[in-house]
Amino acid sequence: MSRSQTPLAASAGSNTDARRPIRQLPELVAAQIAAGEVIERPAAVLKELLENALDAGAGRISVEIEAAGRERIAVHDDGRGIRAAELPLAFSRHATSKLATVDDLGRLDSYGFRGEALPAIAAAAGRVRVTPRPAAEDAASLFGLAAGGAAAPRPAARGGGTSVEVFDLFAGQPARRAFLAGARAERAALLRVSSDALLAQPDRSLRVRMETRTPLAHDAGAGPGRETALREAAAAVFSPDAAERGIWIDARSERSELALDGIAGAPQDARRSRERIRLFVNGRPVHDRRLSYAVQEAYRDWLGAGEFPLVVARLRLPPDAVDVNIHPAKTEVKLRDPGAAFSLLQRTLREALASRRSAIPLRMPSGPRSGNGAVAAESAVDNRTAPDRERSPEPPAGFEQPGAQPRTALPGRSWRTQALVHDPLVRAMLVDQDQ
Ligand SMILES: Nc1ncnc2c1ncn2[C@@H]1O[C@H](COP(=O)(O)OP(=O)(O)O)[C@@H](O)[C@H]1O
Ligand SMILES: [Mg+2]
Repeated sequence: MSRSQTPLAASAGSNTDARRPIRQLPELVAAQIAAGEVIERPAAVLKELLENALDAGAGRISVEIEAAGRERIAVHDDGRGIRAAELPLAFSRHATSKLATVDDLGRLDSYGFRGEALPAIAAAAGRVRVTPRPAAEDAASLFGLAAGGAAAPRPAARGGGTSVEVFDLFAGQPARRAFLAGARAERAALLRVSSDALLAQPDRSLRVRMETRTPLAHDAGAGPGRETALREAAAAVFSPDAAERGIWIDARSERSELALDGIAGAPQDARRSRERIRLFVNGRPVHDRRLSYAVQEAYRDWLGAGEFPLVVARLRLPPDAVDVNIHPAKTEVKLRDPGAAFSLLQRTLREALASRRSAIPLRMPSGPRSGNGAVAAESAVDNRTAPDRERSPEPPAGFEQPGAQPRTALPGRSWRTQALVHDPLVRAMLVDQDQ
C-alpha cells in the first residue's frame, strides 16, 4: 500500500482528498466500540450482571429472560446495593468500586475491576433501568438510561439489593443483531453462563426464568460444606442422578499453593461435546485447552473417542499466581505455573476414578485403592465413602467399566484395550503377553 493511501481511501470516493482532522470520538461512539469487546451477545450481558450481583455479596439472585435476551434481561439481587448519588458514576467508563490502585490488580478477589460492564451494556442496549436500594438507605431509587441520555434517579420501592434490567439489546446496531445466533443457541449460552456462576458459587441461591420456563433453580443453604453445596448445584445444572453418581474430589498441592475441588462425573454421564467439562480458576469459569486436555486424559480408559466427561474442577491459587487481566471478558487466564495445575487436575481425577475401579472385583479381589505414595502425598482424594465401596461386590452405579463385558471376551483387560481387540495386531500382542 502506498503511503498516501489509507486502507479505505481507494473505495471511499467523495471526500477523501481533503485530510480529515483528528477528533475525539463522541462518548456514545467510543462506548459502543468498547462495548463491542465486552458485550458481543446476550449471554455476555448476563455474565456481567451476575458477576456484579455476586461481587455485591448477594445471597439470592433471580434472573428473567425474554426473547432469548434480546427483549429483556433482568437480574435481581439482595446484595449491598448502589447509593443513589453514585448511580450516574456507575455508568461512566472506568468507574469501579473494586479497584483503587495498580497494586490491587495483583490481589483481586472480585469478578469485576475494569469498570466497563455497565457503560458497555448501556451503550449496547436500547434502554437500561437500575433500581438499587443499599441497606443504609430507606428508599430505593430508579435510574433509567436510554440512547438519548439518563434520567435523574427517582424514588422507587423494593427491598435491599439491586435490580438491573436491560431492554432491546443491540437495538441501534442492526449489524450486530443480525450476527446473533438463533434463539436456541442464545438460550443455551445464557444457561451456560448461569450454570457456571452457580457451580462457581453454589452457596448462593439462583433462579433463572426464560420466558415461561425455569431451566435452572437452586436454593442454597440446605447443608453446610462445599461438597453438599456443589452436589446440589450440580443436581440443578446436570441432573440429580449425575450429581449423586459423581465422585467428590478435594486435593491440594502444598508446594505450588494449589487447591482443587469439584466433581468427577461417572463415565455414563459423559456427552459427545465438552459442554459438561466445567473448569474454574479462583471462581472464574475459564476455557483452557490445556486443563481440558488434562481432564480428557484422566478419563482416557473410561470413555470412547469423541466422548467427554462431566467434570467440575475448581482450582484455587494465590491471586498473584494468576493473571485474569488478559482478556476483557476474563474467560482466559494466565497461570504462573500451568504445569502444576495440569498435573494436579489429571492426577486427582485419575485417582478418583481408580478408587472406583478398585471396587470391581475383576482383577483386584481385595479391592486395594490404587495410587502410589507420591500422588497420595500431594493430592488427597476424599475417600470417605471407600468402606462402602469395599464392602460392595458390585461397582457403584455408573462406574461399571463402560461397555466392557458385552463388548469383548477378554475379562480383566481395560475397556480401552478391549475396544481394540478387533484389531488383529493388538490381539496378537495380547496373546503374546499372556504367554
Ligand atoms: N448489582 C450490583 N450491586 C451493587 N453494586 C453494583 C451492582 N452492579 C454494579 N455495581 C456497582 O457499579 C460499579 C460498576 O460496575 P461495572 O461497570 O460492572 O464495573 P466493575 O464490576 O468492573 O466494577 C461496581 O464497581 C459497583 O460498585
Ligand atoms: Mg462488573
